[in-house]
Amino acid sequence: MRAGNLQLDSQGRLKHFLAIEGLSCDLLTQILDGAERFAPVGDRAVKKVPLLRGKTVANLFFEPSTRTRTTFDLAAKRLSADVLNLNIEASSAKKGESLGDTLRNLEAMQCDMFVVRHQTSGAAEFIARQVAPHISVINGGDGRHEHPTQAMLDAFTIRRLKRRFEGLTIAIVGDVAHSRVARSEIHAFRILGVPDIRVVGPKTLIPVGIEAMGVTVHHALEAGIKGADVVIMLRLQQERMQSGLLPSGHEYFREYGLTPTRLRLAAPDAIVMHPGPINRGVEIDSAVADGGQSVILQQVTNGIAVRMAVMAMVMGTQSLSQSKPTGGIDGD
Ligand code: NCD
Repeated sequence: MRAGNLQLDSQGRLKHFLAIEGLSCDLLTQILDGAERFAPVGDRAVKKVPLLRGKTVANLFFEPSTRTRTTFDLAAKRLSADVLNLNIEASSAKKGESLGDTLRNLEAMQCDMFVVRHQTSGAAEFIARQVAPHISVINGGDGRHEHPTQAMLDAFTIRRLKRRFEGLTIAIVGDVAHSRVARSEIHAFRILGVPDIRVVGPKTLIPVGIEAMGVTVHHALEAGIKGADVVIMLRLQQERMQSGLLPSGHEYFREYGLTPTRLRLAAPDAIVMHPGPINRGVEIDSAVADGGQSVILQQVTNGIAVRMAVMAMVMGTQSLSQSKPTGGIDGD
């Protein structure tokens, strides 16, 4: 990404987490390894480590979110940070305050980190360029651009269940055109060495020229998921669509809905993923969403550990060169 350098400090450490594009395999692997060490915290009776004690995290959500906002919230709290959850839609912006003034006020409250979700592509980078030097910015999804923590939690889920990236076939199915999740995933999977990444969907929902990102395009679901080890279903983002891109949800399901019969075309041990929110009967049959191959809820759980790892890294409490985080994660 253009912000490739903006994300790293002069020592090459992660300062902001804005996009996957442009990051190294080594750095992505450090995030995955960090998440691996944070995951057991969620299984403890006391789900807390003191790594971000004394730090203040502000969740700035300019767009609705449930999973992403709440798992960032939990991640920050499990790291012992103080957390502010701002629903900007319902607050200052409505009263005419500019984004710059909102940011200055949060800086005046001595915040150390902003987690930003915004409907405009590039918003997180824009904010990262504005903030005081001690503040880190994490992108919680910007327009159609990127959703880097979602891609990392998906990669984490795949690595845990498939034990590798080499040799895998991953099919991303549905509304790729409007999906920041798909863009971040494609970058992440390529960087991590997945050899066969397929995007599957109707012509109107697959961006022209997406092959340049290193994927193959399929318009038939059956061919697209054939032999796949991982099938990632995407929601139809009707709120971002102009009219006329799609027939009805019912017709879409007939062509592209993942049913148990169709899933049998994938590898016998294929896993089914979805970033949520799922639309049952539109892109996915309930029997698949709730079935034995679905790992959709594991993705949610894993999102907390991955977000803890990213937050600890940008705050410098988990040095990238260290193999273990400092500050008592183990046995704390
Ligand atoms: C996604 C998003 O908001 O980009 N959801 C999420 O963060 N879990 C995908 C979607 O809204 O369909």
